[in-house]
Amino acid sequence: MFTQDQLKQHAAQAALDYVLPYLNPDTILGVGTGSTVDRFIDLLALHRESFRGAASSSERSTRRLQGAGIEVFDLNAIQSMALYVDGADELDQDLNMIKGGGGALTREKIVASVAERFVCIVDESKLVERLGLFPLPVEVIPLAREAVARALRQFGGQPVLRAGFTTDNGCQILDVSGLHLDQPAQFEAMLNSVPGVVCCGVFAISGADIALVAGQGGVQMIERMLS
Ligand code: 5RP
Repeated sequence: MFTQDQLKQHAAQAALDYVLPYLNPDTILGVGTGSTVDRFIDLLALHRESFRGAASSSERSTRRLQGAGIEVFDLNAIQSMALYVDGADELDQDLNMIKGGGGALTREKIVASVAERFVCIVDESKLVERLGLFPLPVEVIPLAREAVARALRQFGGQPVLRAGFTTDNGCQILDVSGLHLDQPAQFEAMLNSVPGVVCCGVFAISGADIALVAGQGGVQMIERMLS
């Protein structure tokens, strides 16, 4: 029986195997944030001479990438990237996700938007039938915290301020439980329209393209159906 940590390692290894054919001296990889991604960065470091560098989604990942000898590029200097690799807090079969457990959701959504493909790496505990058990992280401008919290209560959620936490963008996070995410893309669009919301942790308008889900029986690849 593999532990969750071991499964995260398997997912990271599967991500490395997936990205290897894309590595060449011009390649810049988009890199997410979290404990699964930390493992991916450590594996990627062994191939640092085979590609140009990375675009990072957080100060945490930037430090780890640079510590591993991988150059980190300003996203403004990058016009396109083939791949973005990141974890998730929840993933459904349609490859919609909840992200932001590590508080890096805004930069994750931005860096992912520049990449052609989002490769999601998770252990099987993250795979759910329906999103919403994991409290939804919502990054807010501090001035708007209470106004956004009232709006979230009207949507049926119970927002809780993530205490003692400031995002890389100088903002705050509300973790919202009790939401019904039957239609994640619509919900994401609705939250995006609330003044003071910087970003919500629903990744459905643009979800993952490929998921590598590490389980007891091996790593399963789920690909987005082209519509
Ligand atoms: C950070 C994230 C992470 O991808 C998510 O929290 C999963 O993290 P981990 O790999 O540590 O379980 O969205 O903002």
